[in-house]
Amino acid sequence: MIIEILEGIVITLWLMLPVYLPNPAAVIFGGGTPIDFGKNFIDGRRILGKGKTWRGFFGGALSGLVFGVIQNLGAFYLPQQWFPCFSTSWFYAILLLATMSFGAMLGDSFGSFIKRRMGIESGGKAFLLDQLMFVIIAWLLIYLFFPQWFLWHFWNVVSIITVFVLTPFIHRAVNIIAYKVGLKNVPW
Ligand code: CTP
Ligand code: MG
Repeated sequence: MIIEILEGIVITLWLMLPVYLPNPAAVIFGGGTPIDFGKNFIDGRRILGKGKTWRGFFGGALSGLVFGVIQNLGAFYLPQQWFPCFSTSWFYAILLLATMSFGAMLGDSFGSFIKRRMGIESGGKAFLLDQLMFVIIAWLLIYLFFPQWFLWHFWNVVSIITVFVLTPFIHRAVNIIAYKVGLKNVPW
């Protein structure tokens, strides 16, 4: 029982890496032209804000995709009970990985869109929105494009609890590290 739960947690986190990686990668690759080109929304506030840039978006999403491809290769040499591959079909795997990593960045941008509508400045804190919106949108897109894969791998109690309970802690820990090493100005 304990082993099965532990297995479920490890598999879930492993399969979620292409969703988790784009955010920290965006911090590294980010900068330059903002996605909203500096424009305001009808409420007079920025559409997305200065924290969402094209370089961050594509640098982040492509990092997640490339990392997922490496994982899919690596899974061949790892115990598949703990570290399964995404798919044995490379065509399917790459589309799935792109959905995961671009979905994470779309969700991240959508989170910023909502933050701006709430009047929160770029870089300001929005509890749960910062931590979970990217996962929710990524999951939604995975479910829409790959429903069978999603239901099989993520739609179970262990995965849902792992993702929705552990993600905010992982997010926080990674941001504190990024702050300590000087990659971010704020620890959230
Ligand atoms: N980043 C980027 N482009 C993205 C996402 C992130 O350039 N699409 C970079 C920015 O330098 C950003 C940093 O990563 O400041 C941290 O990302 P995040 O915390 O998501 O953005 P915030 O600056 O906090 O902005 P927001 O309030 O909109 O979340
Ligand atoms: Mg932030």
